Amino acid sequence: MSGELLYEGKAKQVYATDDPGRVVIRFKDDATAFNGVKRATVGGKGRINCAITAYLFDLVAREAGVAHHMVQKLDDERLLCERVEIVPVEVVVRNRVAGSFARRYGIHEGAALPQPLVEFFYKSDALDDPLMGEDVPVLLGWAKRWELQFMREATLAVNDVLLRFYGEHGIDLVDMKLEFGRQDGRLLLADELTPDGSRLWERSTGRKLDKDVFRRDLADLGETYRELARRVLGAV
Ligand SMILES: Nc1ncnc2c1ncn2[C@@H]1O[C@H](COP(=O)(O)OP(=O)(O)OP(=O)(O)O)[C@@H](O)[C@H]1O
Ligand SMILES: [Mg+2]
Repeated sequence: MSGELLYEGKAKQVYATDDPGRVVIRFKDDATAFNGVKRATVGGKGRINCAITAYLFDLVAREAGVAHHMVQKLDDERLLCERVEIVPVEVVVRNRVAGSFARRYGIHEGAALPQPLVEFFYKSDALDDPLMGEDVPVLLGWAKRWELQFMREATLAVNDVLLRFYGEHGIDLVDMKLEFGRQDGRLLLADELTPDGSRLWERSTGRKLDKDVFRRDLADLGETYRELARRVLGAV
């Protein structure tokens, strides 16, 4: 099934398949933060991120009608996906103040926003993913106006579903980052839906169940991800 390694990122590997329109994505046990400056290997992380991503892609397709790149889960760590041209725009949706948003505006983490906020960032490790206004990607040729509009609406729809889903498990979805890709003139939700790219706070205690545990040395990341998977998937 898997052919040549096309790309190795910090958290995943992308392999070619016999079908030029499809790739295999393998989730690694590596954890990184601060654009790769801090690194560790966390046993079981790949399996958990793969399971959560597969479950949530199914959920958002079913409940919000959002088309995504996953074709099927192949095994514990691998998904068969449509091969897309990733739009170099990271879409962030925020329900509460946290992370770079709190730092940028000098406010404490935690306050709920009156409605979800969508922000666009230029996907560039070299530049540390700078924030962009909506005209920038259009004028610089990184995305069409309709694509930004589509990504905003799809992101809000995904956010609605996942807010409710995590909420049912006593967890607040604080924010998350989504990526989209082009295939045959349409846009698909791509990449991953994991606690690496989301902030998830246990409602009753405020305990963090996401990668901030690793960024800020708050607890054991493997334990935390296993706890999250137990809570939302039952087990993995
Ligand atoms: N269906 C797909 N087809 C092609 N590329 C994809 C697809 N889904 C995700 N990708 C890309 O594959 C890479 C996955 O690797 P990983 O998440 O480890 O990258 P990363 O280290 O976070 O780096 P990057 O800054 O490129 O995201 C990402 O660049 C992601 O945009
Ligand atoms: Mg990534």
